[in-house]
Amino acid sequence: MTESDERLRRPRRLRRTPAIRALVEETQLRVDNLVMPLFVREGDGEPEPVDSMPGQVRWPLSRLGEAVDELTALGLRAIALFPVLEPESKDPVGSEALRDESLILRAVRAVRERKPEVVIFADIALDPYTDHGHDGVLTEAGDDVDNDATVAILCRMAVIHARAGVDFVAPSDMMDGRIGAIRRALDASGYSGTGILSYSAKYASAFYGPFRDAVGTARAAGTRLLDKKTYQMNPANRREAVVETGLDEAEGADILMVKPAGPYLDVIRELRARTPLPVAAYQVSGEYAQIHAAGRLGWLDLEAVRDESLLSIKRAGADLIFTYFAKDIAAKAG
Ligand code: PBG
Repeated sequence: MTESDERLRRPRRLRRTPAIRALVEETQLRVDNLVMPLFVREGDGEPEPVDSMPGQVRWPLSRLGEAVDELTALGLRAIALFPVLEPESKDPVGSEALRDESLILRAVRAVRERKPEVVIFADIALDPYTDHGHDGVLTEAGDDVDNDATVAILCRMAVIHARAGVDFVAPSDMMDGRIGAIRRALDASGYSGTGILSYSAKYASAFYGPFRDAVGTARAAGTRLLDKKTYQMNPANRREAVVETGLDEAEGADILMVKPAGPYLDVIRELRARTPLPVAAYQVSGEYAQIHAAGRLGWLDLEAVRDESLLSIKRAGADLIFTYFAKDIAAKAG
C-alpha cells in the first residue's frame, strides 16, 4: 500500500465555509428557467382561490394583465395559460376548443398585446372542453378516446393558438402521432416559427388532483370504463418514456417534457442523457399541494423544501421547470 492510499480522503474540505461551498456548487436554480402556470376564467371580479393549491387563483380575464405585470416585474418571463370553463361551455366533443373567440385565445391575445416579450405556452388538449373530462373525443361506443379524430382536432386547435400569438403549443393529451401532425399543420398554415413543447412522458399520476379541482376536470380521472391510463403512461415504466420521447423528437418537437417532476427524477435524468433537445419538467399541482400542506402543519419548512425540490429537479437534468412556485422563487431572488 502506498502512502497516499493510506491517507484519509476528506471530501468535507470542500464544505468547510459558505464561500468554498459556493465555489464548488454544481447546480443553480435560475428564474430564467422557470415557467409560471396561470389559471384564467371568464369575467371580472376577484381572483378565486384554489383551495387545494394555497396561493394559486383562477384569474378573471379582465385581471390577467395585472397578474402578468406582477410576474414580469419580478423578472419572470414565461407563463403557461390554462382555461377554466363553465360546465355549460363543455360538450362531448369539446367544440369550444375550436372557437376563435374562446376564453383561452382572448387571454393569449390580451397578454400578447400587453407584454409582447413574455413567452406564452398554451396547453393543447381537450380535457377542459369536454363534458366527460377526457383529453380527446370518444369513439362511438364510448369505450375509448378516438386517437386519430382527436389528433385532427388538436391540429386545428394548435393553429388557432399560433394565430393568437403563443410562442409554444404544448400538447398534453398523449395521443399517438400528434406531434408530427401538429408540426405539419402549423407549417402549412404559415406558423413555422411557433414551437412545440411536447408533454412526452406524461404519467397517469394521482399528483394532478388539485389541478383537476382548479379547472374542473376531475370527472374523467374516475370514469369507470375509460381511464386516463389508456393514454397517459404507467408510473411503473421508464423505458416507455424513452420510446415516447424518441417518437416526439423524430416528429419534430422542440422541447420534451416529463410530468410530474419530483417523483420522476430518474426519467428526467434518463432523457437528459439521451436527447440533445431541452428537457422540461412540470412540478405539478400535487407536488405543490403536499409541500404547502406539510408546511401549514408545521411538519416541514415550506421555503426550504420548496427550494430543495426545485433544485433537485434541476440537478436531475431539467433545463426548464414549470412550477406554481415560480413567482415565489422570483420574488425571493429579486
Ligand atoms: C391536461 C393537463 C393536466 C395537467 C396539465 N395539463 C391534468 C390532467 O392530465 O388531468 C396537470 C397539471 C398539474 O397537476 O399541475 N391535459
